Amino acid sequence: MPHTVKDEAGHATLRWNYRDIDFASIDKSAIHDDDLMFYMLASASLVEIMAELYTDNLIEKFRGNAELVEWLKSHWQHEEVQHGYALKAYVRHVWPEFDWHTANARFREEYVALCTAEQLEDDPALELIARCVVETGTTTMYHAVHDYVREPVLRKLFADIKTDEANHYARFRQFYEIYSKSSPKSPWSVTSTIWRRMTEIRGEDSYIAFKHVFSVRNPAMPFQEQNWRDFSRMVKNKARRHYPYPVAVKMLVKLIPVPLAVRHMIGWPLLGMARLVARK
Ligand SMILES: [Fe+2]
Ligand SMILES: [Fe+2]
Repeated sequence: MPHTVKDEAGHATLRWNYRDIDFASIDKSAIHDDDLMFYMLASASLVEIMAELYTDNLIEKFRGNAELVEWLKSHWQHEEVQHGYALKAYVRHVWPEFDWHTANARFREEYVALCTAEQLEDDPALELIARCVVETGTTTMYHAVHDYVREPVLRKLFADIKTDEANHYARFRQFYEIYSKSSPKSPWSVTSTIWRRMTEIRGEDSYIAFKHVFSVRNPAMPFQEQNWRDFSRMVKNKARRHYPYPVAVKMLVKLIPVPLAVRHMIGWPLLGMARLVARK
């Protein structure tokens, strides 16, 4: 019987609970020597847990929209933080030699300074677009690693997280559509918001997390930019085979306020471009 987590008001908030995962049944031999998975899981656990820090900024941005604020507080935040706890528990079972708490403390110290309200888009509708881009990034990333990994407990965990992320995208998009009815956005403003947030997705938080994970795991080796470049190259190599480019393009193009026929027209060239960039 799965646990049901309740919020302060007694409402069930989570579709699944990481405490129900049978971590003892992990096939460690199938995963322990996979450096790519270690760095990816440890870094993602640090980033996901941080949702608790920036939820307040989002709530402030959407003050006045009771439905959205309620959903952020009682669903979205708990689900993101649970992703972090689940990944942390997995890392600690498979790599008990890794000092997760030290990496988390160092990451948190640096990341807190970046979590400011100025990071958000001025326009609430465009911030919802930015949220959809972030959720597209996480949905497709977990989709890719679910396709890549063979260890059964982790595959199931990735499947659960991926579904949550896709639901977050859908919910943020619903809210965006409501906002855009009263204040329509131009295709240009939406596209530039998408671009801005996409370039950030590959940047700061995952870089900072990787840096601290690397330093804690390799105390005798000072972190160098080359270590990040090597890791990024490893990710890119795997992405060619496992990353769902058509899903990512479809999710992003859906956000642009143009007629359906135009969406189809721009979707295919974008897919080609994404694959070309990934090949470099
Ligand atoms: Fe998440
Ligand atoms: Fe999410």
